[in-house]
Amino acid sequence: MKIAFLGHGNVGAPLADHLQRLGHEVTLGASDPGSESLRKALVRNATLKTASPPDAVKEADVVFLAVPFPAVPSALGAVASEIRGKVLVDCTNPVGPGLTHGLNSVESGSENVQRLVPEAKVVKAFTIYGFENFEDNSFPGHDIRPMMMFAGDDAAAKRAVAGLISALGWEPVDVGGLVQALHLEHMTLLWVRMVRVLGGSPRTVWARLTR
Ligand SMILES: NC(=O)c1ccc[n+]([C@@H]2O[C@H](COP(=O)([O-])OP(=O)(O)OC[C@H]3O[C@@H](n4cnc5c(N)ncnc54)[C@H](OP(=O)(O)O)[C@@H]3O)[C@@H](O)[C@H]2O)c1
Repeated sequence: MKIAFLGHGNVGAPLADHLQRLGHEVTLGASDPGSESLRKALVRNATLKTASPPDAVKEADVVFLAVPFPAVPSALGAVASEIRGKVLVDCTNPVGPGLTHGLNSVESGSENVQRLVPEAKVVKAFTIYGFENFEDNSFPGHDIRPMMMFAGDDAAAKRAVAGLISALGWEPVDVGGLVQALHLEHMTLLWVRMVRVLGGSPRTVWARLTR
């Protein structure tokens, strides 16, 4: 699969690295060749390709959006015409002052993203944990796979993202339509408070038990 990344920092770089090692053709959309995050991503994996964001997106089947939430309009604006019809994996989280929801819980960041690029197929995923777990999601001694929840409105796009989630070692858990993204964003705030504020282990993830 051809995969483009918009944002190659804490979240984007390890995901790009792992997906490329799984055999996908991964391209980092890089508008600034002097970017420190680009340098670090290429130190991690020197075989990652780079291209201008529009060129990276034009060639891709799936695009990962992993920029700070305030940068979303400019990152998507730069690729608006190329992103039509593509699967857009929204890894962003809107975070407000004091670890509140950045859009006051009125709508999710992902619905906001979908409005910015109505012809893309937005799937929210890779948001509910800190980046440490995207670097390494192995939990030796446990038989249960950690889960990765995802939400979106397009069934085929969700199947594609579920495949990537599974290949990366997570149990993909479809939580429903994009309307559910707001709840995932609150789960993120829960995780951030538990770990970054209250001192829990950053290697805290959730798993699903059903019967
Ligand atoms: N950190 C976490 O643990 C975590 C976990 C889950 C989800 N998230 C979410 O994932 C997103 C990325 O977080 P992060 O920690 O990876 O951030 P980060 O380390 O600061 O990386 C941000 C990346 O976005 C790029 N970028 C910034 N502005 C851009 C623009 N206007 N157009 C294109 N690219 C732009 C940066 O490039 P330059 O370096 O060149 O500026 C950098 O590659 C955020 O929305 C965050 O809420 C974070």
